[in-house]
Amino acid sequence: MHVLLLGTAAGGGFPQWNCLCPVCRAARDDPAAAHPRTQSSIALSADGTRWFLCNASPDVREQLARLPLPLPLPLSDPRLPPGPEGTRERSPVRRVPIEGIVLTDAELDHSLGLALLREARDLRLWATEAVIRTLERDSRLLPVTRAFASVRVTELRVDSALELRDASDAPTGLEVEPFLVAGDPPRFATADEPGHSVGLLVRDRATGGRCAYVPACGALDPPLLARLADADLVLFDGTCWTDDELQALGIGTRGATEMGHLPISGPNGSLEPLSRLSAARVVYTHINNTNPILLEHSEARRAVERAGLTVGMDGMRFRL
Ligand code: MLT
Ligand code: MN
Ligand code: ZN
Repeated sequence: MHVLLLGTAAGGGFPQWNCLCPVCRAARDDPAAAHPRTQSSIALSADGTRWFLCNASPDVREQLARLPLPLPLPLSDPRLPPGPEGTRERSPVRRVPIEGIVLTDAELDHSLGLALLREARDLRLWATEAVIRTLERDSRLLPVTRAFASVRVTELRVDSALELRDASDAPTGLEVEPFLVAGDPPRFATADEPGHSVGLLVRDRATGGRCAYVPACGALDPPLLARLADADLVLFDGTCWTDDELQALGIGTRGATEMGHLPISGPNGSLEPLSRLSAARVVYTHINNTNPILLEHSEARRAVERAGLTVGMDGMRFRL
């Protein structure tokens, strides 16, 4: 399985357009001291040609440019997207470099990209029932996208593995299993339903390689740690370094944990338990622009690396 980190920043990206925190200022002064990052998303493929997006960020347009645009298809090929609404015309001029999108939640930084992919005309989406309902009813991103493209939605069930199928409905050998993580639903959600936020365990049936993608997680209990211990690669919530990071800067009233993001440092932080996962490579992603691990030469960065973990960066690739 190929895993490509498309975006490793939290909502707002890095540096954030309106932020004057020390980390954003360092990135503007010297991008070599703190590399810019786009909003959190990954791409996965078993064969290196059929790719799936996990989360569709507002930066999706720039992110998809990292994937090879497929060659034109002959007019008879069933993978050719349908023509504009009300026509039967199919054109080989347009190709989409992804087979579909899998969502971990309906937060804006993970789902606004759906509407931005409306030119695809035909999109496939995998998400839990709670996430689908929030996209239908609350953010209305699904109805808005459907005004431009057909969206084929497949429901993911918590703790149940499902094989991803490509745009022509052929199996891909990649199976995805969502699992519950602690946290609140998006602030615009009108219901708090189980499954509003999940982590994904993705397994390549041919190689047995496993990747856990957990961009938001408010608690690390022994059952979740045991699940992560099974993965070869763990991409984990690195939103904040300290629990009071946003409060200390005067830009938030709630602690990181209260917002569904376990901090990295401190007695209840994720660094210590994740450093005990012996088999897995652990990479922090969904990193908020205030987090000092973004600074190449910070003490926080050194602490992560001393513990044997990696600070994620856009463009990183893994093969499992
Ligand atoms: C989160 O990660 O908690 C959300 O994406 C917050 C936001 O809306 O930016
Ligand atoms: Mn987020
Ligand atoms: Zn900032």
